Amino acid sequence: MAEKRGIASAPVHGRRVLVRVDFNVPQDADGRIADDRRMQEALPTLNHLRAAGARTILLSHLGRPEGHRDPRFSLRPVAHHLSVLLGQPVSFAEDIVGARPLELATRLENGQFLMLENLRFHPGEEANDPAFAAQLASLGQVFVEDAFGTVHRAHASTVGVPKRLPSFAGLLVEREVRELSKLVEAPARPYMVVVGGAKVADKLPLLTSFLGRADSLLVGGALAFPFLHAQNAGLGATKVEGGLKEAVDLFFQQAKSAGTEVVLPSDLLIERPGTSEATAHAVGHIPPGGVAKDIGPETRARFAEVLARSRTVFWNGPLGLAEDPRFANGTREVLARLAEVPGYHVAAGGDSARVAHDLGVAGSFQFISTGGGAALEFVQGLELPGLAVLPDA
Ligand code: ADP
Ligand code: 3PG
Ligand code: MG
Repeated sequence: MAEKRGIASAPVHGRRVLVRVDFNVPQDADGRIADDRRMQEALPTLNHLRAAGARTILLSHLGRPEGHRDPRFSLRPVAHHLSVLLGQPVSFAEDIVGARPLELATRLENGQFLMLENLRFHPGEEANDPAFAAQLASLGQVFVEDAFGTVHRAHASTVGVPKRLPSFAGLLVEREVRELSKLVEAPARPYMVVVGGAKVADKLPLLTSFLGRADSLLVGGALAFPFLHAQNAGLGATKVEGGLKEAVDLFFQQAKSAGTEVVLPSDLLIERPGTSEATAHAVGHIPPGGVAKDIGPETRARFAEVLARSRTVFWNGPLGLAEDPRFANGTREVLARLAEVPGYHVAAGGDSARVAHDLGVAGSFQFISTGGGAALEFVQGLELPGLAVLPDA
């Protein structure tokens, strides 16, 4: 992909600079920030702007509040945490557009920061409403895109605003594009893709683009269930997303003609409801009432064996319910063994990045992307609207 015009050449001194960041951070049950990696990764751009004397206005979303104000998704705690990371106050505008944010924006001095409330509290954000985008754009004079995790969305803040202001790619976006491009242009082969996680309906259609592109596709996590189900493997009481059999059958046919090997679990770790017991069972022999929570030991060994032949690996999605220590072994063991395999390894996905760190296997990767869906689409060579709108270098 062509390089984008970066912030080194942006005229920011004394200007109001709108920066789209992806501070859609994982939250714990009490709404606290469970992982601030996406904020940490934006600091190089924010420090650059501060040093250059910009007046920075931060734009982000958090969660999916669908156009309504919802206190669970307020960015106020995020603004507070950012002030700790930056070591200086970050003012906060509860309104996204209107008189108040404009007043706070015009009051900014060089090197200061303002953050607006969650953009998705306003229906104009996801709809890319022109009037909303124009109002947002009027707060600043320059736009910087640093929300790599959100560039696959054509929203007001990712497309509408950069269409209306001189726009530049931030340092995080530049780094993500540089690293992920290695998987698009000429990955060393065998190129293997490991996918898991839970967003089955989101991810299944995306997997087709890996056929022909990757040499092997290893599927674990809840994502493997519709594949196993389509092969008539009983999965006990495991919840399997319905209505996917046709799509999966077509997928197997396409994989065959594209010459991409699809590797599925051959055994699963099964939890018996009402007990805390978990035991491994071969696919085809899952006990009725049992619920699949992780890949089994035979599958772990086989995945690791297949990956040992790889030269390039892209991983998205835990191979089991890795937040629960009883079901983290599949992901941990497969990824730990990847550390011994020479080559270029990339991890992507909000939960995947967190799990890689929590399980102590982040060192198996040369690059950990802040993008989930965005990284998945990027490595398939798809055009991302939030990047397409930025001028080339
Ligand atoms: P990412 O954010 O990395 O793209 P997803 O959001 O698709 O990944 O999925 C992550 C979630 O999937 C994790 O919370 C994990 O516990 C869950 N998960 C993976 N395998 C299973 C499983 N077998 N049963 C239930 N949840 C699972
Ligand atoms: C992400 O977490 O992948 C990004 O912040 C985009 O969020 P979304 O899937 O709700 O658009
Ligand atoms: Mg996720």
